[in-house]
Amino acid sequence: MKHGFFVAIEGGDGSGKSTLIKGLRPLLEALGLAICQTREPGGSALGMRIRHMLLEEHETLSPEPLSELLLLLSARHQHLETLIRPALRAGKLVLCDRFQASTMAYQGAGHGICQQLIVQLSESILGHDRPDLTLILHLDGKTGLERVSARAPANSYERFDLAFHQRVSNAFASMAREDQSGRTVLLDARLARHDLARKAYRLICDHMARAGFGPEITAKAGS
Ligand code: TYD
Repeated sequence: MKHGFFVAIEGGDGSGKSTLIKGLRPLLEALGLAICQTREPGGSALGMRIRHMLLEEHETLSPEPLSELLLLLSARHQHLETLIRPALRAGKLVLCDRFQASTMAYQGAGHGICQQLIVQLSESILGHDRPDLTLILHLDGKTGLERVSARAPANSYERFDLAFHQRVSNAFASMAREDQSGRTVLLDARLARHDLARKAYRLICDHMARAGFGPEITAKAGS
């Protein structure tokens, strides 16, 4: 690969992103792709501190929604500069657990921050480095909340009420509907984990082929 390929895996709490990534990674590695697996918030030492503040210390720090947004964007800037851009320059496939779509869904639809403001603030941070493909695991807010309630302890976001999770879930679905480029795709999170991993794998291979990645990827993916 001359330049890498950037995939974001998105979805509400309890949608099964981690399980999907676990199933997806070996399939992609079998194609001989070098993979940079990462997540947000996180992905750098600074990002991990911010993750800890937002997920574990939320109650004591009580960040205002806008302060929280700026922290998430700080973490994203650091993540892009120190990990994602170098990995893409090295021709890697970047597999990122949550990215910008989560900010639009949680901070925008969930917390009610103006979507236009999020877009404006994000512009200079993202530049041209947007995900080439965003896969959204779609699950209604109620099922997601039930799934996370079964695994304790809940993080600060998982403690929000059903209406919050429903807004997040609806926002993810609208993003896929409204993205005319076809780079944002919804996957049914209720599918069996093996089927979901195969489906996501096929989508990544198809999009990579369309983006001009070698016929060897398409050939191997078909086998
Ligand atoms: P996640 O890593 O998926 O949680 P878990 O540890 O349960 O797998 O995500 C942590 C939380 O961060 C999640 O509830 C959503 C939230 N979040 C935002 O609100 N905005 C963002 O931009 C990002 C990246 C995450």
